Amino acid sequence: CGIVGYVGPRESQDILLAGLARLEYRGYDSAGIAVIDREGSLGMRKKAGKLARLREALDEAPLGAGTTGIGHTRWATHGGPTDLNAHPHLADDDRLAVIHNGIIENFSALKAELEAEGFSFRSQTDTEVAAVLLGREYRAAGGDLAAAFRAVVSRLEGAFTLLAMHEDHPGLVVGARRNSPLVIGLGEGENFLGSDVAAFVEHTRRALAIGQDQIVSITPEGVSVTDFDGAVVEVEPFEVSWDAAAADKGGWSSFMAKEVSEEPEAVANTVLGRVQDGQIVIPELDGLDGLFQGVSRVIVLACGTAYYAGLVGKYAIEQWARIPVDVELAHEFRYRDPIVGPETLVVSISQSGETMDTLMAVKEAARLGAKTLSICNTQGATIPRESDAIVYTHAGPEVAVASTKAFVAQITALYLLALHVGRVRGALSAEVAGAAIAELEALPEKIRWILENEQERIEQLSRWMSDTRSVLFLGRHVGYPIALEGALKLKELSYIHAEGFAAGELKHGPIALIEPGQPVFVMVPSPRQGATLHAKVISNIEEIRARGARVIAVAEEGDAAVLPFADEVLRVPLAAPLFEPILAVVPLHIFAMGLATAKGLDVDQPRNLAKSVTVE
Ligand code: G6P
Repeated sequence: CGIVGYVGPRESQDILLAGLARLEYRGYDSAGIAVIDREGSLGMRKKAGKLARLREALDEAPLGAGTTGIGHTRWATHGGPTDLNAHPHLADDDRLAVIHNGIIENFSALKAELEAEGFSFRSQTDTEVAAVLLGREYRAAGGDLAAAFRAVVSRLEGAFTLLAMHEDHPGLVVGARRNSPLVIGLGEGENFLGSDVAAFVEHTRRALAIGQDQIVSITPEGVSVTDFDGAVVEVEPFEVSWDAAAADKGGWSSFMAKEVSEEPEAVANTVLGRVQDGQIVIPELDGLDGLFQGVSRVIVLACGTAYYAGLVGKYAIEQWARIPVDVELAHEFRYRDPIVGPETLVVSISQSGETMDTLMAVKEAARLGAKTLSICNTQGATIPRESDAIVYTHAGPEVAVASTKAFVAQITALYLLALHVGRVRGALSAEVAGAAIAELEALPEKIRWILENEQERIEQLSRWMSDTRSVLFLGRHVGYPIALEGALKLKELSYIHAEGFAAGELKHGPIALIEPGQPVFVMVPSPRQGATLHAKVISNIEEIRARGARVIAVAEEGDAAVLPFADEVLRVPLAAPLFEPILAVVPLHIFAMGLATAKGLDVDQPRNLAKSVTVE
């Protein structure tokens, strides 16, 4: 879910709606705002559906003008996406408004307790329980909202960010967070709260990251942060490294179209400043060499597309740093009693830095004594704060729900890390590292070549294929995770059945799926990767072709061996084998986006998904 809060001299409704528009990628099945107007009374509107529905409702029945407000865009957990279940939720005779992100796990018990006391509820949500509880504690605390929060948070189990405001206190918004994101935006005579900086970056780039288990109060004049016991705590200020324009669609038809076009910069900016005199220098890791000593094992943890980036990273870390790597879905790791200790380096990958499954896995690894390093694209996010070290990807803000440019940046960061660790541990020669750095630095131009020379043809192909019901993706070695990513992207965006397989696994089952006309994308490794691997993939192509498959090969320029067997060949420029994934994925991103567009679907906000899933 996305959360925004505002106090200051300006019309809060406009600021809240603009903030919600920028946060809509976090959830978009309902939205709502509450405002305390200039007469001091609290008004609220909320609506199921995308933000546009809320705007319509506000046009029909405007709220009084006011300068304090909170807003919410929802990804439903408890209670379906209905008007009533949308946030804000009201309590204390509708004088208190509350919004929430996360899940309150003990809400049934709390609800029963409150019902026994005579309180009643209008929705099925866990949030309303928190709102009613806050209302009760507010009365008990004699009208002190921050004190009421302190009483409430000790009763809540689970993960939450809660924001509230009360009619008695115009010009005050109070928030609390545990395991869910919340950042403060510092303005002049005004202040902001947001799930992430996108909520307020058009007004200010000065921000404060709030730690775990803290309560924050904002007024137009200032900000105060305490822990859950009320003791004042210091918060870290930071400057947002991008401006609002970076998170705008510009002239593009969709955020995703813009973000795919930014894949070259995502790679280039992630490398930028990290190569000095032909050596990898990662400033964030200065003085942290100890983190990599005594490590006998790396576990990469992530979800979704970030997990596939991790699978690619395994090849690089093992090859250059010579440390065995396991890559695991964070939610599977967390609940299997993993064997982990100080000899384990856990590398988490998360674009948002807020994915709850990943966060919980990192915390569990840290509890078990592992060293933790986070690869993350979002400043001030929770996962990097919970980790011993951080390597940022510099892909810029990614707004489309399905990840594209962050994926290539994640692989890039993993490669930088693998080279760095390889050098620190003496496992890698300067020559090999130097050649790899040159390859990394050449990638942006090669991605640009694909966008300039192949994009149109791929889009045409996706239009021809817009009636396709199922698409398979095959790959070997580093091409295997790319096949998985190609299938995921197609599923997410176009809602058609898509599956990725290791090409070698084909004969062990998936080949049964091949019937005449079945489209199959095949990631063809470079012949320079080792003739055997290339030849094996060509044999795989022949096998499926013999059974009627329609083969779309993604192959390097000049590879003529694929021509006799492929119906279509999508070309990528030559790169050393380990670097091919960053190129080969680009046509797959373009294809998935093209096919969804041809079907008339919203590529930025696919059904049922949310960009940062802040619940487990
Ligand atoms: C969601 C998004 C995916 C993303 C995954 C992990 O499921 O829809 O696109 O890959 O979360 O997100 P993260 O922010 O942790 O990289």
